[in-house]
Amino acid sequence: MSKILVTGGAGFIGSHVAKKLLEKGDEVVIVDNLNDYYSVKLKQSRLDNLLERLKFTFYQVDIADYPAMEAIFEKHKLDKICHLAAQAGVRHSLKDPFVYERSNNLGTLNLLELCKKYKVNNFIYASSSSIYGLNKQLPFSEEAKVDTPISIYAASKRYNELLAHTYHHLYGIHCTGLRFFTVYGPWGRPDMALFLFIKSITKNQPIKMFNSGEMSRDFTYIDDIVDGVVASIEKNYPYEIFNLGRGETQKLGTYVEALEKSLGVKAQKNNLPMQQGDVVATSADISKAKKMLGFNPKISIAEGVDRFVSWYKTYSDELGLADM
Ligand SMILES: NC(=O)c1ccc[n+]([C@@H]2O[C@H](COP(=O)([O-])OP(=O)(O)OC[C@H]3O[C@@H](n4cnc5c(N)ncnc54)[C@H](O)[C@@H]3O)[C@@H](O)[C@H]2O)c1
Repeated sequence: MSKILVTGGAGFIGSHVAKKLLEKGDEVVIVDNLNDYYSVKLKQSRLDNLLERLKFTFYQVDIADYPAMEAIFEKHKLDKICHLAAQAGVRHSLKDPFVYERSNNLGTLNLLELCKKYKVNNFIYASSSSIYGLNKQLPFSEEAKVDTPISIYAASKRYNELLAHTYHHLYGIHCTGLRFFTVYGPWGRPDMALFLFIKSITKNQPIKMFNSGEMSRDFTYIDDIVDGVVASIEKNYPYEIFNLGRGETQKLGTYVEALEKSLGVKAQKNNLPMQQGDVVATSADISKAKKMLGFNPKISIAEGVDRFVSWYKTYSDELGLADM
C-alpha cells in the first residue's frame, strides 16, 4: 500500500484514477481547487458518487499556492504523486493564457520543488497529444521532435515535460510523463466533443463539425487510460514519456456515428471552419507503452460510446448535464 497524492482528483481522469487506486488498497489524498472552468457540480458529484463509499482525504487547494501545498506534503508522508490537475482545453488557452501559466506551469513547478524537498521519488504527470503540434509524421512517436506546439495549452504541457526532465537530471526524481490522446467516457468533460455532441443531439440542435468533420483523433476510453496511469505509478521508471492512446485513429464521423447508433437518433450537422489551435489529426504509436507498461487498450469506440451514453442517461436529470 502506498500513500498517493492525486492532483486534479475531482477531474475526469483524476477521479477515475483515484477510484482505481483506492479499490486496490492505496491511500489517496486528493487535491483539486474545484474551479469553475466547467460545472463544479459535476466535479463535486465525481467525488460524491464515483468515489462513493471509498475513503480518501480531500483538500480544496490550488496547486499554484505553494504554502498550502507544502502544508499537505508536511502533514502526509506521501510516497507518490500522480499529477493530473491542470487547466485543460486547447481552445480556452487562446482566450485565457494566464490561467495556464499559473495552474500548469507554476503548479507543476511547485509540485516538483515539493518532491525535491520532501524526498518523494515517484512523480507521474499528465502531458498531452497536443504537444505534437505541427508534426506531420503519423502515428506520433515519443521519439519525434516536439518543438512546434500550436496552442498555449500544448506549450504548457511541453514545459511540464522539460521541467520533469530537469528535476530528474538535477535531483534524481523519478518522473514519468503521459501523453494522453482524447480521453472519453462516463463522468467526462462537458467541454469535449462527445459531451457537446450528446447535449446538442438530445436538445435537437445541430452538432458543430469543425473543419467540416475532416478531423481524426485517437479516441481513448477512460478505463484504458486509468490502466496506463496505474501501471506507470507501479513501474516507477527513472525517467520516461509514454503515449497513452488507443493506437487506432478514427474520423470524427465514426465517433458521431457510434453516438447516433447508441442513441438511436440521427444528428443534424453544422459544418464549420477549422479552429485555431486545433490539429487536424492525432494518432498514437503505443508500442513503447505496450512493451514497458503492459498497456493494452481494450475498449472499442462502439463499446466506449455506449457506456458513456448509459452514464449520461442515468445522471442527466440529477446533474442537469444538458445545461452544462
Ligand atoms: N481528457 C483528455 O482528453 C486529456 C488529453 C490530454 C491531456 N489531458 C490532461 O490530463 C489531465 C486531466 O485532464 P481531465 O480531462 O481530467 O481534465 P479535468 O479538467 O476534468 O481535470 C483537471 C482537474 O484539475 C483541477 N485543477 C485545475 N487547475 C487546478 C489548480 N490550479 N489547482 C488544483 N486543481 C486544479 C480542476 O478543477 C479539475 O478538476 C490534465 O492535466 C489534462 O491537461 C487530458
